[in-house]
Amino acid sequence: MNKNILKWSLMIFSSLLLIGAIMLQTGVIKFYRAFQPFEIIADMDNQIKPSPQKESSFFADSSSFRSAIENTVPKFGSKYHLTDLEYEEAEFENKNPLEPTERVLARGKNRFETFCVPCHNYDGKGNGVIITKVKLKEGEEGFPAPANLTREFTRTISDARIFHILSAGQNLMFPVNYKLSETDRWALVHYIRKLQKDSYIQK
Ligand code: HEC
Repeated sequence: MNKNILKWSLMIFSSLLLIGAIMLQTGVIKFYRAFQPFEIIADMDNQIKPSPQKESSFFADSSSFRSAIENTVPKFGSKYHLTDLEYEEAEFENKNPLEPTERVLARGKNRFETFCVPCHNYDGKGNGVIITKVKLKEGEEGFPAPANLTREFTRTISDARIFHILSAGQNLMFPVNYKLSETDRWALVHYIRKLQKDSYIQK
């Protein structure tokens, strides 16, 4: 009789230990919010860091999405010397150094399909998943549809201006200079021109 109780207690105790260890490992229970949860196999999933697009309780503007700090050099992108309103200067100062070769267009397509399609969609017409598929909660305002990149206006503005928009931003369109190099931005300009040509052919 006594032996049985001992056996059962040991089994229950070890099962509880095992369940506890699993819960700790998977992060179901955390010791402290401020510290990394105890992990048997630390895979660095849990760490205190701002996630892009998440609200931040640390920065005063509550955005986790930070711009480059003054006097620093972005690792992948590059600084741009004009502000978004200096688009007239941009006409003279920005010159596309690339020819629209197959390689350049392939790079532009790759960048476009990585960074731009969620809003602009694959054909550039502005009905990407963020606009059409993201389900909104009641009363929540969605992201307004971006301009159709194949519309007449965007066809007529210069390469320099499109490069300027990519580098300095325009209204809701944020600048991408800090994450895309100058070469990538010029490749994107060529790729946007290709989308515009293709959409003429489709008509
Ligand atoms: C979060 C959504 C979003 C993403 C991602 C995005 N854009 Fe935009 N884009 C917009 C919006 C919104 C506008 C309209 C801005 C305005 O009202 O002037 C815009 C405008 C533009 C324009 C100006 C078009 C015109 O006719 O005025 C260009 C060019 C452009 N985007 C290119 C890009 C490229 C290239 C990328 C990828 C590197 C990109 N965008 C990524 C939302 C986005």
